[in-house]
Amino acid sequence: MTLLDFARGPALYWSLIFLVAGILLRLVGALLLARARYLSKPRSTHTVWAGIRGGVERCEYGLIGDVVNLACRLALKAGWGEIWVGPAAYERLQETFRLEARGTYQLKGKRGEMPVYLLQGKEEQVEAVFHPGRMVGREGELDQLAAYVQPILAGQFAGLVYVYGEAGIGKSRLVYELRRQLTDRGVRWFLCPADQILRQSLNPFRRFLLHYFDQSRDRPAEQNRARFDELLDGLIASLQALPSPAARDASELVGELERTRSFLAALVDLRWEGSLYEQLDPKLRFENTLLAVKTLVLAESLRQPVVLQLEDLHWLDDDSQELVKLLTRSVQDYPLATVCTGRYRDDGSRVALPVDADVPQQVLELDTLLPDGVRLLAAQMLAPREAERPEAELSEELAAFLAEKTGGNPFFVEQLLLDLREQGTVIRGTGGEWVLAGEEVTQSETRAYGCSVKY
Ligand SMILES: Nc1ncnc2c1ncn2[C@@H]1O[C@H](COP(=O)(O)OP(=O)(O)O)[C@@H](O)[C@H]1O
Ligand SMILES: [Mg+2]
Repeated sequence: MTLLDFARGPALYWSLIFLVAGILLRLVGALLLARARYLSKPRSTHTVWAGIRGGVERCEYGLIGDVVNLACRLALKAGWGEIWVGPAAYERLQETFRLEARGTYQLKGKRGEMPVYLLQGKEEQVEAVFHPGRMVGREGELDQLAAYVQPILAGQFAGLVYVYGEAGIGKSRLVYELRRQLTDRGVRWFLCPADQILRQSLNPFRRFLLHYFDQSRDRPAEQNRARFDELLDGLIASLQALPSPAARDASELVGELERTRSFLAALVDLRWEGSLYEQLDPKLRFENTLLAVKTLVLAESLRQPVVLQLEDLHWLDDDSQELVKLLTRSVQDYPLATVCTGRYRDDGSRVALPVDADVPQQVLELDTLLPDGVRLLAAQMLAPREAERPEAELSEELAAFLAEKTGGNPFFVEQLLLDLREQGTVIRGTGGEWVLAGEEVTQSETRAYGCSVKY
């Protein structure tokens, strides 16, 4: 087709449509690119071009960039179910994830050999969770939560307590506060965090047990085994020393702990030849594994009240759900509570666990912070060292800006403030209060945040 043909009749009409559509697509692409660049700023080491590729008849949303090619090459080389990363990702992730070096590979399109790493899981030291600063607001919710688990302080099962709310709303923060209150009163707290990426069987419980049995991948297996036995034997000895009336329960649990030792061990990757675990078929292995964890938790609850925290229910694997079902069955006289945090599903419904109908269940829903809460949180963040004296005030303009842009979500308040500080957009005013610098108030950046809030 010549240009002349193209300019005639309906062809002109179509060429105009193509032109306008092309401009529109470029605009959308540019916006998406701006967003991808902005969002990737704190986390990534590469630029990814995100946008819509193709023409009007056939187009798709896609990502282009060197690192996308690398991800593709790694995915092709990795075994089924494995996640491999390259050196830049390794640098970023090595403190929070366990990564095993897998040697060097020649990857298509890359010069020289590149070291690659296998993602094995999160670091075991999950108990290092720590929230600096004071919790803002939420006094009513905290009282409510404390009331829900109160039965454990009277030696009773408190059932399941759900804390629901959108991402970043402060579920973990609130539960952390409860944890501080209760551990001060002698309650033992077990954290079982579900993992978005690694949803392998019983992963949250494995992580709890790795911490409980003080296992370290930097130690040889024999040392880990010795530590495991030492801690389990310590629990058994303390159960045997319990006075009646707990003694009858205790002796049953002691027998069960001895019987299921190899199942607990297998959960922390310790195995030995001839163990009961090794002898049973997969179905019986699984059943006994669930029983083993339940026995351990009940045994602990005879020493002191226990709270089991299931963090991020929305990522919980099916086997862990089975375990919770078993764990909460017929345990009325054990001082045990299960506190679960979880987000809503996309349709707004709440993730619930398939427990027996007679298990007490309580629900607490977290809403966004009120503007005063946002203001306080921001003031605390801006001047953490002034925590003892009243924090410096925020200007009305800054407080209103933060409340509006973040919708009262504490995580967004933190992130937006960090970013504004980094840009030098939040500064001390002449009266010592925090103000927004400049007229334009980083409109472009805040628009990008609008995107990150949504996605
Ligand atoms: N009430 C609060 N007071 C102070 N900081 C809070 C509050 N709620 C949440 N945060 C902070 O906001 C961030 C997100 O909260 P987090 O509890 O992790 O959210 P969620 O578990 O709901 O995703 C954390 O850094 C947390 O410390
Ligand atoms: Mg959380």
